[in-house]
Amino acid sequence: MRTQVAIIGGGPSGLLLGQLLHLKGIDAIVLERKTRDYVLGRIRAGILEVGFVNLMREAGVGKRMDAEGLIHDGTVIAYDNTQINIDFTKHTGTPVMVYGQTELTRDLYDARETVGAKTVFNVEGVEIHGADTDAPYVTYHTKDGEQRIDCDYIAGCDGFHGVSRQTIPDSVRRDYEKIYPFGWLGVMSQTPPVHDELIYSSSERGFALCSMRHANLSRYYVQVPLEDKVEQWSDAAFWDELKRRLPESTAEQLITGDTIEKSIAPLRSFVTEPIRWGRLFLCGDAAHIVPPTGAKGLNTAASDIHYLYNGLVAAYHDNEDEGLAEYSGRALSRIWKAERFSWSMTNMLHRFPDQNGFDLRMQQAELEFLGSNDAAQKVLAENYVGLPY
Ligand code: APR
Ligand code: PHB
Repeated sequence: MRTQVAIIGGGPSGLLLGQLLHLKGIDAIVLERKTRDYVLGRIRAGILEVGFVNLMREAGVGKRMDAEGLIHDGTVIAYDNTQINIDFTKHTGTPVMVYGQTELTRDLYDARETVGAKTVFNVEGVEIHGADTDAPYVTYHTKDGEQRIDCDYIAGCDGFHGVSRQTIPDSVRRDYEKIYPFGWLGVMSQTPPVHDELIYSSSERGFALCSMRHANLSRYYVQVPLEDKVEQWSDAAFWDELKRRLPESTAEQLITGDTIEKSIAPLRSFVTEPIRWGRLFLCGDAAHIVPPTGAKGLNTAASDIHYLYNGLVAAYHDNEDEGLAEYSGRALSRIWKAERFSWSMTNMLHRFPDQNGFDLRMQQAELEFLGSNDAAQKVLAENYVGLPY
């Protein structure tokens, strides 16, 4: 088989790239290790920066997002019964949109099917060959045996545990990593959200987040020790802990109910450099991970796709290779700023096991400063809604 761009991974990064390229007449095949239903069963984040929203529209898949997505003009940062309202629209002129990753992924799969673009599911043993030559190819197995795709370029969109990153030799690649000593226990519940904006809450019992998907679907999280197991957390224990970490007035309004999903995710910051090796380009979670405080996971994937997509279009349509040659530097320059923001939000709002009294006072001073200083609120707002591409 031959295609122009072989895309490894059918998560949001690979699907968005495939759809954008299709509209520009550039042929791509998506190779996905799991099934469509499996990918759609994963519950992930749900806050879109305006850059992501615009890319979805450009890819021709913005209709349902624009109809069902919720516009959020700000967010709340809470601590010690104090609430700081961060007004995105006042400070940046731009809101964010609440639209779940599951919904967005479904729209992208539907669009792929509608245009007849090729996706191969259940692929095993994907290997990348000759990425540093002019004739790269990808091999993999399906139930029909060993397959080979020859291509011009390879997009490694296969997430943190994929093969693409590992293909770049150790002598070329450097990884930067920080593991946090806690995780987030998340629940989805068919209950109305406690507030019309997200609430990021720092409390002496640890961090909590109130988020949502729509008017009757709430997403809540509490910080938990890394050793905790989901089975230890009954619904009642979760609701009780969440309430204890929210401002009293918020806790009183919380509507609890049966949870429809419960999971624990560890927190990690990770970046690999470079994210281009010859004709292989890493995008999204394959290249970097952020802790979820600040909702940058999906959005950093989108900015990679923006740079790669524009580089590929310039190469195919204008015979101009600069965008591809500069991909790694341009994408990483923005990634590192999103990494910094996610790391600083994580540090400001969580309880760390080895924290001493001084560290706690530093967090408190930072929150008090944020609450009293318009410029600090503007900095948070600019980062939250997304730095320009
Ligand atoms: N071969 C083929 N596909 C693979 C392989 C492989 N060896 N390894 C992983 N995959 C697939 C996974 O099954 C998954 O569907 O690649 C896809 C990667 O998708 P994501 O992990 O969702 O990564 P990405 O598309 O970069 O999306 C960015 O934003 O909210 C964040 O972390 C969250 O998923 C999120 C991400
Ligand atoms: C979510 O809704 O899942 C969510 C929202 C904001 C975050 C992280 C997760 O910072």
